[in-house]
Amino acid sequence: MSATSGARRKRIAARVLAIALALLALAVAALVALGEHDDDAFAHRAPPSLADATLRARGAYLARVGNCAGCHSVRGGAPYAGGLGIATPFGTVYASNLTPDGATGLGRWSADDFWRALHLGRSRDGHLLTPAFPYPNFSAVTRDDSDALYAFLRTLPAVHQPTPASTLRWPYRTQAALAVWRGLYFRPAVFAPDATRSAEWNRGAYLVRGLGHCSACHAPRNWLGASAADRTLPGGLIPLQNWSAPALAWAPGAVAAEELQALLRDGQTAHRAVLGPMAEVVFESTQYLQTGDLAAIAAYLQALPAAPVRRTHAEAAAAAADADLLRQGQAVYRKACADCHGAQGQGAARAYPPLAGNATVIAAQPINLLRVIAEGGFAPVTAGNPRPYGMPPFAERLSQREIAAVASYVRQAWGNDAGAVSELDVLAVR
Ligand code: HEC
Ligand code: HEC
Ligand code: HEC
Repeated sequence: MSATSGARRKRIAARVLAIALALLALAVAALVALGEHDDDAFAHRAPPSLADATLRARGAYLARVGNCAGCHSVRGGAPYAGGLGIATPFGTVYASNLTPDGATGLGRWSADDFWRALHLGRSRDGHLLTPAFPYPNFSAVTRDDSDALYAFLRTLPAVHQPTPASTLRWPYRTQAALAVWRGLYFRPAVFAPDATRSAEWNRGAYLVRGLGHCSACHAPRNWLGASAADRTLPGGLIPLQNWSAPALAWAPGAVAAEELQALLRDGQTAHRAVLGPMAEVVFESTQYLQTGDLAAIAAYLQALPAAPVRRTHAEAAAAAADADLLRQGQAVYRKACADCHGAQGQGAARAYPPLAGNATVIAAQPINLLRVIAEGGFAPVTAGNPRPYGMPPFAERLSQREIAAVASYVRQAWGNDAGAVSELDVLAVR
């Protein structure tokens, strides 16, 4: 290769690089512009009256629907005073102090500022907030509901408690990265009712997509942490927590609307119990929902198109589930589980959920099954189920092989037809 052609190549390479960089900068600018385009039609309004008790009560109810306290309080700390770390794959973000403290909370915020945070994901000083705060969902909330939430929060006792700084890694912690993220994934929009649907469906859609932020867990997240397919709720793995949130779209007739309402209200029905993060959602939020709102949520979920059933490697191996493993699983089941869940996996009404036909047991993804066996659990305490029974943890009492065996057994006994679970699956969940 001659020296001149080498130099020429370098010049061309430099020019290509410069053009690529310029295009990238343009693309980023365009994305940021897109992200900043918003329908800020409700940006300014006369402030709501904090003396209006009905408004405050509605705000308190909406705060339950949005589970604001679930993220904005630490266990044992003052409610809404913030400080809880939300772990994300990009670092930890701390939920802010929402009490009316002037220095560390929302004391100096106007109702307009509050609306901008909920609807646009911008703080009072204009900086972009991270989507660990589910504003991509909350953007759907109406200005009236935002004002009610504001009135409720403004009348809480003020707590002076600074919010710790996030530990997000570079570049995720930069405003530029957030601007690009918003350009790609965030379109602020108040919920627009669908005139072709019933009022009940629309109320359900408003709650599920908006304040209820069900898609934060029940939809998969892409590599930049944005929920994909958030309208169809096909289920997803919750990053870092290692729980699987199942699809909330069922085949027609698979789950009765009354069953869904009862599960969200009581945390346990004759057919199933809620576990892990969902037990917290029921405990903090859905148990307080009005009957009409629960019915609307159930109606909306039932109208979703059923998610296609995906076969996992475990299911592909189902045919090969070996007889030894199942025999061992049956023995473990008789000794360790049958007292509560019944010899035929039939459970005991209102105490122990049945395992025959149980959604957690036969889920394509066996994570939740393996976790509840290893860690045990309690259904949440609710008005409808004030003294839930508990399940002991088996991580110390059973070997990995025994856990794989009993999990495989319950997935294939009593008409259940899900795939076997291997010791490797058990290991992966630990
Ligand atoms: C899943 C957890 C989660 C839920 C649920 C949640 N938040 Fe937050 N919120 C956060 C996090 C984390 C931040 C901090 C974001 C940041 O610093 O970028 C935040 C920030 C905020 C802010 C901005 C505060 C500031 O100083 O800039 C407001 C306002 C807010 N949340 C209100 C609410 C309200 C109202 C609700 C209920 C309707 C709610 N949040 C529910 C996690 C949550
Ligand atoms: C002392 C009684 C008891 C024993 C023993 C017990 N369980 Fe449980 N089990 C429960 C209770 C109570 C729940 C509901 C817990 C919750 O909601 O967190 C439950 C929940 C479950 C669930 C989740 C059901 C759902 O609807 O999501 C599965 C799966 C399960 N148990 C399997 C087992 C297996 C397998 C064994 C034996 C290794 C076992 N359990 C032993 C009481 C028991
Ligand atoms: C913080 C994460 C999280 C949020 C937010 C969340 N869920 Fe869940 N949900 C889960 C997990 C994890 C499970 C699986 C464990 C279980 O079965 O209880 C689950 C299970 C469920 C189930 C039982 C499904 C079945 O087939 O048995 C229903 C119904 C449900 N969620 C409804 C909702 C609704 C409605 C919302 C919004 C109002 C919501 N969830 C918000 C995490 C979440």
